[in-house]
Amino acid sequence: MTQPVVLITGASSGIGYACAIAFSQAGYRVVATARRADKLAELQQAVGSQRDLLPVAADVTQGEAMVQAVAQARQHFGRLDVVIANAGIGHRGALAEARWEDIETLLRTNIDGVLHTVRAAVPLLKQSGGGHIFTISSVAYDLTMPYAAVYAASKAFVTSLSHSLRLELEDDHIRVSDVIIGRTATEFNNNRLGLGKRTGESLPTMTPDQVAAIILRATRANRRTVFARFFDRLTLLGNLFVPELIGRVARKDYR
Ligand SMILES: NC(=O)c1ccc[n+]([C@@H]2O[C@H](COP(=O)([O-])OP(=O)(O)OC[C@H]3O[C@@H](n4cnc5c(N)ncnc54)[C@H](OP(=O)(O)O)[C@@H]3O)[C@@H](O)[C@H]2O)c1
Repeated sequence: MTQPVVLITGASSGIGYACAIAFSQAGYRVVATARRADKLAELQQAVGSQRDLLPVAADVTQGEAMVQAVAQARQHFGRLDVVIANAGIGHRGALAEARWEDIETLLRTNIDGVLHTVRAAVPLLKQSGGGHIFTISSVAYDLTMPYAAVYAASKAFVTSLSHSLRLELEDDHIRVSDVIIGRTATEFNNNRLGLGKRTGESLPTMTPDQVAAIILRATRANRRTVFARFFDRLTLLGNLFVPELIGRVARKDYR
């Protein structure tokens, strides 16, 4: 059987890095993209020379860079089966006081980045006879998130996009699954733009390896939504009944 090929954005750290390792160990050939080429080189070393991993330095905010990354996947591996549109960044701070540059970086990364990745990948997925796209969202997408409003709204965009694409691409045999993730121990919370005040430290935290294992397992199914853990599903369910409770606690925590 042909070895399947996965393209991962944000593979230089955290969840993307863990996905690259997990998919590689599961027999996938991996196209690992991110901006930091040195971190991708470390990933390649960690995966080992006996496995096929193609590091591609690419910025998801640049449409042409993602087109080139997919062109490299086609050139090296001839096909594409799975896409994990994972690259993302956080932001914290009052909307009216935030630097516009930070808001713009978040929007260009979390929104444009997913659009560029999907638009570049779909033609090769179609040519390969179908595939599976995973969008990476957050439990924040449906929560009231004072002082993280732009991040939460960007993930609401991702989830909404994912749900619509699922039907749009169904006839092309391309599955689309939205992965809802809660707090995970990665560089994310340190790299967050804005005021950077640390909050939610006491929340239950997953490891990126746990999230990667869940995404790998989800390739065997065709689920609209993949919850990384039951706790997040419960949080969103509770939020239906008491919509502002979490937001009010988070607001206190921030101040
Ligand atoms: N960690 C959490 O608690 C958590 C919770 C819910 C959802 N998520 C989501 O999970 C995803 C992965 O985050 P993580 O936790 O693994 O964070 P992370 O460790 O900070 O990783 C983020 C990745 O995105 C890449 N990236 C950022 N801007 C980029 C750009 N312009 N172009 C290309 N790549 C870019 C980074 O690579 P370079 O800097 O090398 O480009 C890095 O590999 C994000 O979408 C995040 O919103 C995380």
